[in-house]
Amino acid sequence: MVRVFSGAQPTGIIHLGNYLGALKQYVDLQNETDCYYCVVNMHALTIPRDPQELKEKTLDVAAIYLAIGLDPKKATLFVQSQVPAHTEAAWLLQCISRVGELSRMVQFKEKSKGSAESAGVGLFTYPILQAADILLYQAEKVPVGEDQRQHIELTRDIAERFNRDYGEVFTLPEILVPKVGAKIMALDEPTKKMSKSAESKWNSIALLDDPKLIEKKLKRAVTDSENQVRYDLETKPGVSNLLTIYSTFSGISIRELERKYEGLGYGQFKKDLIEVTIDYLRPIQERFQEIRHSGYVEEVLKDGAEKANQVANETLSKMRQAMGIIQL
Ligand code: TYM
Repeated sequence: MVRVFSGAQPTGIIHLGNYLGALKQYVDLQNETDCYYCVVNMHALTIPRDPQELKEKTLDVAAIYLAIGLDPKKATLFVQSQVPAHTEAAWLLQCISRVGELSRMVQFKEKSKGSAESAGVGLFTYPILQAADILLYQAEKVPVGEDQRQHIELTRDIAERFNRDYGEVFTLPEILVPKVGAKIMALDEPTKKMSKSAESKWNSIALLDDPKLIEKKLKRAVTDSENQVRYDLETKPGVSNLLTIYSTFSGISIRELERKYEGLGYGQFKKDLIEVTIDYLRPIQERFQEIRHSGYVEEVLKDGAEKANQVANETLSKMRQAMGIIQL
């Protein structure tokens, strides 16, 4: 069975970009592949966090995994820090990685705001921990949004180097991006991607936003003055983004939506989009409320960690052996 690995950071709260770019794929894959889905709380430390909040958000993301329909009988769900092999593997891989290749990472440049001197070392080495996450599970497919492409390519480069220098240990992973939704744009600035770390609350819709707030956010979403519902990324990034969201939530193709709203303008389009979005998210929100404080989430994570530790330790042992690290 094809092995799949992916993860999301417990920072901010999971939004439509995370869901449509990555988490929805997690659910679609669980029936026909062997999936490992992680809450990457160690990655979250690369930017200062409130400790209590980090704990809560870690459980929030795990509860969201369950609420969107991941089934712990089919997919292994766990928290990164519960599997110590990740950090050890990251160290071993750091020792074969290059400062040059990390310096080229766009996400590091963005998050360090161009000032490498004062950026955290963890922020710099972040992609190596991500490579460790993926390689420990010998993952063949990594479902993510478009913004992770460079990190997955780096993971392949590091794995190839390890295999060449120390012998075949790793499977080379392939990125899996959805046909529609790989890059959801910010509602208030549709030329930039929707982001958990955006300052404005009008940037994104969280999966857990209440219906009133969803309505407000979509009403304020930037469009253009043409008043024609048409998909054109170049000249109509706002409307195109809303069409993408509408299409994935309703199952109606973008073409059909264009036809449906011909001559109707943005008012009717947004009104219907608001309804479709609220209806789609309602069962996810209800399930989240049901399980978040029931003890079920913790139970699932404990079982998941046990299974993940077994797989990860097997690969880690091969890495140690290949590199000459004694295991007594
Ligand atoms: P993170 O937590 O930023 O985002 C989680 C997932 O959501 C996707 N995503 C988007 N997709 C479409 N449109 C957007 N606007 C958008 N914003 C975010 C991301 O591509 C991601 O798939 N480095 C990763 C976490 C990670 C990881 C891993 C992922 C750590 N180890 C191993 C895969 C495999 C990150 O920061 O994702």
